Amino acid sequence: MSKTLASIVGGTAGAVVLAGMIIVLIWFYLCHYRSVSSETGSSDPSQVRKIELPLQDTRCFEMEELSLATKEFSERNLIGDGKFGEVYRGLLQDGVLVAIKRRHALPSKEFVDEVRYLSSIHHRNVVTLLGYCQENNLQFLIYEYVPNGSVASHLYGVGQQPHEKLQFKLRLSIALGAAKGLAHLHCLSPHLIHKNFKTANVLVDENFIAKVADAGLHNIFGKDEIPGPSSQVVSEEIFLAPEVKEFRQYSEKSDVYSFGVFLLELLSGKEATESQPSDSYQNLVELVQSNGNMFNIIDQRLGKSFTAEGVKDFMQLIVQCINLSSEKRLSMSFVVIELDQILEKEMKLTTSMGEGTPTVTLGSQLFKTTR
Ligand SMILES: *[C@@H]1O[C@H](CO)[C@@H](O)[C@H](O)[C@H]1NC(C)=O
Ligand SMILES: *[C@@H]1O[C@H](CO)[C@@H](O)[C@H](O)[C@H]1NC(C)=O
Repeated sequence: MSKTLASIVGGTAGAVVLAGMIIVLIWFYLCHYRSVSSETGSSDPSQVRKIELPLQDTRCFEMEELSLATKEFSERNLIGDGKFGEVYRGLLQDGVLVAIKRRHALPSKEFVDEVRYLSSIHHRNVVTLLGYCQENNLQFLIYEYVPNGSVASHLYGVGQQPHEKLQFKLRLSIALGAAKGLAHLHCLSPHLIHKNFKTANVLVDENFIAKVADAGLHNIFGKDEIPGPSSQVVSEEIFLAPEVKEFRQYSEKSDVYSFGVFLLELLSGKEATESQPSDSYQNLVELVQSNGNMFNIIDQRLGKSFTAEGVKDFMQLIVQCINLSSEKRLSMSFVVIELDQILEKEMKLTTSMGEGTPTVTLGSQLFKTTR
């Protein structure tokens, strides 16, 4: 009697455990599948490979390992020096290239918790955080290495050539990638606001796929941020929405404002802090907000690689992103849709006309009519 009862109980328990395992497996499959399909919605096949890697846990690196990877943090591997510390390029023992951020700080559990959370974010348009290290009163963040540098360096970094640089379609696709990355952060639960979106924080890989860098970093390091009178701070201020400058009121919409300034730099090929010699506006953002003539600011290096229609739609989008009132700005998901349409239309128009042929003069006609 008790034997049969035991076998029934045992059998039932076994079935429950089995069912539980199946549910977990299905759940895992669905989540994984969903994240893969959302990230491979693009036509670029070279990116698929990366996503198939199993999701790794946050790695806790040893300083020894990082020192070895950067040849004892040699100057030659220094690739950046931002307000959150130095950035080094490193080659790990397993052959993986990484970017390592280093700064002086006391070890804290809060730091580890934040890193754990941020490293769980995986999207093809967001730079992946791989792990961290806390030793000798230093904190390190270890990121995937994005080989082709920041969009800022491509647009107005040192050693720029005056010839055709990034053509309009490429700038559009970089804008679209960055928009998708930012929109992904805004869709997370809880929503992650970037708070420090700027052209220098949009990196491009060897295929010019855009990746948003420093997502969530403001939450780790921003608290003890000391604003100084350096020129870097001034050039970053231009990306801040009015409500942030005045009340430190960050929101998805303040990110949208910053994104609009990024679009403006893509269009002009210049830092938004610059002014046009012929205009009375203090900077490019003020020009847009005062309904100034945006045709004057189009990057001359774009040559004839764009259509008037595409560039007009692009300008319209910029205006809708950097509205002074946060409620009037578009949402990032809407910006993604808009950019997608502009790019698609631009592709269609320029291919049907035959690229590089003298018929593609809409861009230059634009300059003539505004002169
Ligand atoms: C960026 O990519 C292009 C094309 O792949 C390459 O020619 C160029 O050297 C790269 N630039 C940098 C800074 O890595
Ligand atoms: C903000 O948007 C509103 C409504 O679309 C518009 O009337 C206004 O001119 C915009 N302001 C600026 C500064 O762009």
